[in-house]
Amino acid sequence: MTFPSGFTWGAATSAFQIEGGRTDGKGQSIWDTFSDQGRLRNSGDIACDHYHRWEEDVRLMGELGLTAYRLSIAWTRVLPDGVGEVNQKGLDFYRRLIDGLLQVGVKPWVTLFHWDLPQALEDQGGWPERSTVDAFRRYAEVVASALGDRVKNWITINEPWVAATLGYIEGVFAPGRSDWREGLAAGHHLLLAHGQAVPIIRELSADANVGIAIDCRPSTPATQSPADEAAWHHFDGFRNRWYFDPVAGRGYPEDMVHTYRERGRWDDSLVHPGDLEVIAAPLDFLGVNYYTAIEVEAGKEETERTGVDPGPDPPAGYTEMGWKIVPSALTEFLVRLNNDYHPASLVVTENGASYSESPYDQRRIDYLAAHLDAVADAIERGVPANGYFVWSLLDNLEWTAGFSQRFGLIHVDFETLMRTPKKSFDWYRRRIAAG
Ligand code: FCB
Repeated sequence: MTFPSGFTWGAATSAFQIEGGRTDGKGQSIWDTFSDQGRLRNSGDIACDHYHRWEEDVRLMGELGLTAYRLSIAWTRVLPDGVGEVNQKGLDFYRRLIDGLLQVGVKPWVTLFHWDLPQALEDQGGWPERSTVDAFRRYAEVVASALGDRVKNWITINEPWVAATLGYIEGVFAPGRSDWREGLAAGHHLLLAHGQAVPIIRELSADANVGIAIDCRPSTPATQSPADEAAWHHFDGFRNRWYFDPVAGRGYPEDMVHTYRERGRWDDSLVHPGDLEVIAAPLDFLGVNYYTAIEVEAGKEETERTGVDPGPDPPAGYTEMGWKIVPSALTEFLVRLNNDYHPASLVVTENGASYSESPYDQRRIDYLAAHLDAVADAIERGVPANGYFVWSLLDNLEWTAGFSQRFGLIHVDFETLMRTPKKSFDWYRRRIAAG
C-alpha cells in the first residue's frame, strides 16, 4: 500500500504525559494537582523527564525518520497562572525543542491544549466559565507570536469530549467534577476557545495549517431491536456528533439538545449569539483520534462498554486498555466524516495500542499496520486523509493509569529513564521510508 506523496508520517505525545520538569517557573496545572493528590497510579512529577532529555528524544525522532511530531505546550510553563506574566523560560524551552526538531527534518505539530488547564483558572471556575475562553485566547496569542515563525502546523484543542466529560461530568479525570451542566458548559467553552484561536493563529503564523483533534468512538447497535437502535443513536450524539457537528458548522445536534434540555442539563443561555459561527471557523484539516469501536445496547447509551477490563494479557483482539481492535471502523468513520462534513482534509492525529511487551512488540506492529491499511482504504474511497500520527512516540504517563499502560514505539524504563526503541520503531522507520 503506498500513500500519496506529501503524506504526513507522525508520532504524538502530550506535555503532561512526558515532560516532568516542574521547574523554571512552571505553574501548577489541574493534572499536577491530581498527581499531588495521589489520584494517578504514578506521579507526574518526572514522567519521562522529557523536559531534561528532549535532545535524546529528538535524536531518536530523527533516526525514526518522522516527517512530523505532534507535541503539546504546557499552558502553565508559558503562563504559570493561566493569565498574567509570561514565563520566558517556558517559551525558551519550546523554542529550543522546536529548533531541534527542525534541524533533524521533523516538522512540529503543536497542540495548544491537551487537558493540562492551569490550576489558577480552575480555581476561578475552569472550563465551565466563559472567562476561561478569554484566557485561552490570550495564551494562543502569546504562543503563536513566539513560535509562529517556525511552527506551521497547529492543533487548538485535543479531545474536547474527554476534557469536558471525564473531567467535569464523570469526575474521573482532572479536575474531577461531576455535574452535567458544568460538563456541557465546559464543552461549549472548549469549542469556543478552539474557534477563537483559529484566526489568531492564522494572523500570527503565516501559511499555518490549523485544525483540531477530536476523539471519536464509532459504534453500532448491539442488535437491531428498536431499543438498541435508539440507544446507539443517542450514544453517537453524546459521544461523536456533539463535537463534530458544531465544528463543521452544523451547530449542536437538535435531537441531543432536546434530550439534554429535557433532562435539565442544558442551559440555553450558554450559547451567545455568534458563538456557533465562531466555533465553525474554516479549518485546514479535521484531526481525528481513533482507538476503538463499541456496540451500544439499551440502557448503556451514555457509557463506554469496551469489552474487557484493562490489564496485562488481554484476549486476542483486544489491547491492554481493554479496547477492542476494529481497524475497519476507522475506515468507515473517515468515510462518514468526509461524507457528512466535507473537511478540506482529514488527519488521524492519534492511533495506537497499549501492550507491555518489549522490545519485541509484534502485537503493536500488527495493530499499527492494520490501521494504516484502514487509512489507505479510506483514501481509496475518496477520503482526503493526508496524515497519520502514532500514539505514542514513547511509553509515558497514561493519565490516571500511570505507567501501567505502554503505548510507545520506544520503551522507557521509569526507574532509570533509559529509552530503548522497540521492534515497532524499526517497523515504522521502514514503513515511513517505503512511503
Ligand atoms: C487519548 C489521549 C492521549 C492518550 C491516548 C491513549 O485519549 O489524547 O493523551 O492518553 O488517549
